[in-house]
Amino acid sequence: MCGIVGYIGNTDARQIITCGLLALEYRGYDSAGIAYCINDSLNPVKIVKTTGKVMNLVNKLEQYNEDSVPLSGIGHTRWATHGGVTEVNSHPHSYGRVTLIHNGIIENYRELSDILAKDGKFPVSQTDTEIAAMVIDSYYEGDAFEAIKKACEVLEGSYSFCIIFSDQPDKIYATRKNSPLIAANCSTGSFVASDIVAIIDYTKDYFILPENHIAKLTSDSITVYDYFGNIFTPETIHVNWDIAAAKKGGYEHFMLKEIHEQPDAVINTISPRIVKGLPDFSSDNVPDDLFKNLNRIVITACGTAMHAGMLGKVMIEKYARIPVSVDIASEFRYSDPIIDEHTLVIAISQSGETADTLAAVKLAKSLGARTLAIVNVKGSIIALESDYVLYTHAGPEISVASTKAYTVQLSLMYLIAYKIAMIKNLLSDNDARCRTECLINSVDDMKATINMDQELFYITKKLKKADNIFYLGRGLDYAIACEGSLKLKEISYIHSEAYAAGELKHGTISLITDNVPVIAFATQDNVYSKVISNVVEVRSRGAYVILVTKSGEHVDTSLCDHHITLPKMDEEFTPFCNAVILQYLAYFTAVRRDLNVDQPRNLAKSVTVE
Ligand code: F6R
Repeated sequence: MCGIVGYIGNTDARQIITCGLLALEYRGYDSAGIAYCINDSLNPVKIVKTTGKVMNLVNKLEQYNEDSVPLSGIGHTRWATHGGVTEVNSHPHSYGRVTLIHNGIIENYRELSDILAKDGKFPVSQTDTEIAAMVIDSYYEGDAFEAIKKACEVLEGSYSFCIIFSDQPDKIYATRKNSPLIAANCSTGSFVASDIVAIIDYTKDYFILPENHIAKLTSDSITVYDYFGNIFTPETIHVNWDIAAAKKGGYEHFMLKEIHEQPDAVINTISPRIVKGLPDFSSDNVPDDLFKNLNRIVITACGTAMHAGMLGKVMIEKYARIPVSVDIASEFRYSDPIIDEHTLVIAISQSGETADTLAAVKLAKSLGARTLAIVNVKGSIIALESDYVLYTHAGPEISVASTKAYTVQLSLMYLIAYKIAMIKNLLSDNDARCRTECLINSVDDMKATINMDQELFYITKKLKKADNIFYLGRGLDYAIACEGSLKLKEISYIHSEAYAAGELKHGTISLITDNVPVIAFATQDNVYSKVISNVVEVRSRGAYVILVTKSGEHVDTSLCDHHITLPKMDEEFTPFCNAVILQYLAYFTAVRRDLNVDQPRNLAKSVTVE
């Protein structure tokens, strides 16, 4: 949450920073601001900020013509936590000689504020960030390193900071704790940012600033120091996707583009893990021993990633016969979980930054459990914190609503289920090979479903006017229903609920009246007739039914208003096609309602706060 960019080099800093902020807008978009250095010995740091989107900042900046091109600065796009959405609360914040931008939360800002007040120092904003600026300034006596280090010793919570000291306008300092920050130096200059997408126009090589370290950026170099003042050389990471991957590429929205990218993303994720036709994680340095002697598996995640975990539970229990629980990370972290060294905790996260999932991993480790992260962003905190990591290779996911990150997570759930089953001798090599081949083939079915866009667009004509929509399913289809409901709510702002189809009659069916849309997934053979019975129940109460089945089912057309038929396929792999269907239904409904699909209100893509 919140996107930050710092730049110092030989090019227009205002342009580089605002372009970077536009690329980071998925992290927050309620206000934006920039501080840049100018040739004015009295006021060398100029701050411009505004509420609303980064484009508002770009427009506002046009009013400020400088005598010479500013070559350094820091910029921020905000998702408000402490203090409302106002210009004064927008970053950068400044106090004394310190100007900074911040991603994270300073948890002890009230206590620190009280201490500062005793010295007659009062903030002008309602933010925790301004307090951090005041604390750093209070320690500053000309040595930036000492001031930042001392401040970090008293600041509690999470932070990535980019800091300019007004008496050192030729430098930018950066540090972080529990919040992401990458840095890179190239011929254009030195950069720090929340995410590589902000600077991918300039370089594909970057490093993650380690915690408890301070980076000093000048126009031609970046030096990283540990808290003892020793120079540290971080490992360089190279991104293997192109700049085009972070652009819309002719699609109207990132979400639509990312829906279309799913077949490739799934193939890119599973192919390196299929050796001689069998699941194999040795190239990830994930040993088979990780999956041996397990009494229990806990999958922990949030939102869409948690829904991928729900599907993982069904698959792992089916094949590996190990009890699996799926715990919402924000609940798990404050629970008293019964886990030990015979528990495998799988944390799923696209961003690898989600605060609750990170805390869940830390708790699991402290209790002796083994931890495995399934993460999309290379080198992200959850990946670093976990014992083992399987990276999904979805490429950058820019739309706030997750699509391709979800399906790649699903694909790894399948491989993990087969792998554990093989290790436990519950699945022969031949059967595992056959399952794995079906998984690969399901990518073609997914492609065929992506081509059903016209049909799905048509169906949303009715959905766009609904006040409430229900999603039903059983087994794998229930996990899909949960994701369908979340996706719809998130971007169309229509209230929706997902129900295990058999549970509806225990209360919720009272909400089904004339023309209430019910989207029912009936793609699992063992419960097909049961779901159809549930559809009959809602139909007889007037529901407007959209029914999804596999090809080959003889569906009584009076049962539904629309019948969506999946390609002919094995029932185990229908989630890949159902995912596309639920994504399209949400997407087209939001488009028909003329909403901002990629940046739905109140949301941000990486949720780095509790
Ligand atoms: C919904 C969505 C969220 C995320 C959730 C976890 O479309 O994207 O529900 O899935 O915030 O985020 P990650 O996967 O980054 O941990």
